[in-house]
Amino acid sequence: MSCFEALERRYACKLFDPKHRLSKEQIDKILEYGRLSPSSFGMEPWRFVVVENQKHKEALRPLCWGQPQITTCSHLILILADKASVRNEEYIEAMFARRGLDEKATAGYIRRYKEFLANQDVSCWTQKQCYIAAANMISGAAEDGIDSCPIEGFEKERVERYLGLDSAKLEIALLIAFGKCAKEAPKKQRLPLERLVRWL
Ligand SMILES: Cc1cc2nc3c(=O)[nH]c(=O)nc-3n(C[C@H](O)[C@H](O)[C@H](O)COP(=O)(O)O)c2cc1C
Repeated sequence: MSCFEALERRYACKLFDPKHRLSKEQIDKILEYGRLSPSSFGMEPWRFVVVENQKHKEALRPLCWGQPQITTCSHLILILADKASVRNEEYIEAMFARRGLDEKATAGYIRRYKEFLANQDVSCWTQKQCYIAAANMISGAAEDGIDSCPIEGFEKERVERYLGLDSAKLEIALLIAFGKCAKEAPKKQRLPLERLVRWL
């Protein structure tokens, strides 16, 4: 399937076939789609929690507006925004050092990054990067014939507490349910390009 066909075919699945299980290889590939995503300054501030155990899915469902995707999907991937690493000196240095630039250029990049970060809402900025990873995971999965549903309908604090997160360091950006959809795709509804684009 081409990328374009996958994007046209993909839809947010509201109910999965609970008997259908994705393989470890399929999930690993979806995680790779996330890992290979671009991020601002290359800081990769996403972390992934894969939920495959039905017991955890059952416990999470009431914290996610009772949505049936949570318990019927094969795997649930929670994307966490790592606010701590992007402010951590060692992490910052390692992320810039790996570019293999000379000392002066590396120091210049780090200075620019710190100035940039000082003017950011770190929670919002790291979450934006997580959404890029999420889009790639969803689209990549679609190309592999795997259905999904991105999920923002959850009680953030309760889910973070369930995972035992220190939310000053790591917070949930969004969840994605993956599996095989048990419902027909609805008709695609999108605004026409003329409404969206301005050419200069
Ligand atoms: C960030 C994000 C969060 C979403 N959260 C939910 C959700 O909690 N529950 C749900 O059923 N759909 C959710 N959706 C799916 C959207 O409702 C859906 O993508 C949109 O209506 C367009 O439909 P389509 O994806 O089927 O083309 C979410 C989509 C995105 C991108």
